[in-house]
Amino acid sequence: PDRATLARAALAVAGVGEPAPTTAERLAGLDERRQEISGKAEARAVAKQHAKGKLTARERIDLLFDEGTFIELDAFVRHRVTDFGMDRDRPYGDGVIIGHGLVNGRRVCAFSQDFTVLGGSMGEAFGAKMNKIQDFATTIGCPVIGLNDSGGARIQEGVVSLGQYAELGRRIARASGVIPQISLVLGPCAGGAAYTPQGTDIIVMAEETSFMFVTGPEVIAAVTGERTTLAELGGPAVNSEVSGNVHHVAADDKEAIAWVCDLLSYLPTNNMSGLPSYAYEAQPEITDRDRELDTIIPDSATQAYDMRRIIDRVIDEGSFLEIQRGFATNLICGFGFVNGRPVGVVANQPLMLSGAIDIDASSKGARFVRFCDAFDIPILTVVDVPGYLPGVQQERDGIIRHGAKLGFAYADATTPMVTVVVNKAYGGGYGVMGSKHLGADINLAWPTAEIAVVGAQAGVHVLHRREIAEAEPADRRRVIGELTESYRTKFSNPYFAAERGYLDAVIQPRETRLQVAAALDALRHKKVEFPARKHCNMPL
Ligand code: HXC
Repeated sequence: PDRATLARAALAVAGVGEPAPTTAERLAGLDERRQEISGKAEARAVAKQHAKGKLTARERIDLLFDEGTFIELDAFVRHRVTDFGMDRDRPYGDGVIIGHGLVNGRRVCAFSQDFTVLGGSMGEAFGAKMNKIQDFATTIGCPVIGLNDSGGARIQEGVVSLGQYAELGRRIARASGVIPQISLVLGPCAGGAAYTPQGTDIIVMAEETSFMFVTGPEVIAAVTGERTTLAELGGPAVNSEVSGNVHHVAADDKEAIAWVCDLLSYLPTNNMSGLPSYAYEAQPEITDRDRELDTIIPDSATQAYDMRRIIDRVIDEGSFLEIQRGFATNLICGFGFVNGRPVGVVANQPLMLSGAIDIDASSKGARFVRFCDAFDIPILTVVDVPGYLPGVQQERDGIIRHGAKLGFAYADATTPMVTVVVNKAYGGGYGVMGSKHLGADINLAWPTAEIAVVGAQAGVHVLHRREIAEAEPADRRRVIGELTESYRTKFSNPYFAAERGYLDAVIQPRETRLQVAAALDALRHKKVEFPARKHCNMPL
């Protein structure tokens, strides 16, 4: 056959010449589909979600991203399930929006689950979308934000749903420490929708509308007979104050999203990108605000003070973003800026348990230190710790294992570390709170620092038990007083440690802001390499 015949045959195979929609009709077809996604479906979602005090999945995306920058992927994906009559309704998007855009000018990927479509549950198509955006974020190296509002594994799709959750869990684990992963839990998140955020770095909930549990109240009632409510079981209060599952509770969806946008400004885009930095005009001389540090430590050891007053005066003014504020309140963790560059702050809080480290504080601090270290965010540690919390219950609950986490995390960290001992640093507390021995780079102390194995009273009674027992009863008080005074002279100060170089300098409190800034500046290009290994085996 000649060329013209072949060309006619090819067109015939492609059906050319048969009746077909016009180009204009095809373009209109796309508009129609788009209208179904963002028009009809969105109107339905608005009605349902607003009635519950929640925003829709699309409204949340709009709030998260800089206007007009969000690019949606997979909007036309639909499930292909025929069981349970599901083929009667195959909504576009399958209940989750995925895509990427800019947040304060920086690239971010996100997924936003739509509870109004099959309860935001994860089926095959839904899971494929989640995994696609997770992979995309890892490939391009940008943070991924999960807006979760889901009943968990889609019951109609059985093991396929479970498999998708496990696939997602694997991707989250592999991206951990490579890109920041932040989860918002903005509805009743059950099963996998509660587990998978736990693999991410930071989890945020909204008051009133967010819940998180492995099994809901009805299943619990059926299986164990326990009667409980959504709020009691997995509301923001229990998750932020009792279990410590979440890092921040916001008033509503809008504030939760705003908080996450704020948090992103402290974080690098990925573990190789370097930290963000902002213009900040730090005062180059000691200011009146610096001088306020000179009077914060009370004269009496029995008086407490709020550690936040110190933090606020050392980092850039107004820059402290605290996480897990309601959990393990004896240890403060949060992000700040020093001269416009991010820093992670870990500090004991004397207002709670005198700042002693218990199981929860150790777990909280260790995870925070790991997060900072993974992304090379320098760590500023402010120490006022009487030691680990003594007690039968703590021992039974495993303070040895859990308490080891904090020291292990510091010891395994290679990010710049600056530590300031402002008051007590006793026992194991001294060791684990960013001591020189664990690898901190610059260790400073105030003249008010007391560094010893135990406090004067306890020390004297252990070391001089016989001498005290043998003293005449009338004389005992004087003997104890003298021994305590001599113990104090030796240990209740920073100089015993400074003499050995365990502290690089003893400074006046008012000098702290400038000293910390200078230390962090000097450490900017710190590089430490450990011997090759698969990974460490930290106590979990
Ligand atoms: C399919 C679901 C669903 C699910 C909710 N829906 N969860 N559909 N699979 N998992 C549907 C409901 O049938 C309902 O559909 C709509 O979503 C809204 O749900 P409601 O129950 O009306 O909402 P609410 O009263 O607010 O209660 C929310 C809820 C409850 C507490 C989340 O829906 C619930 O308990 N769902 C089941 C949770 C669950 O057991 N999930 C599986 C977990 S196991 P209609 O058509 O009526 O509007 C898991 C394994 C992970 O996730 C494995 C990891 C490896």
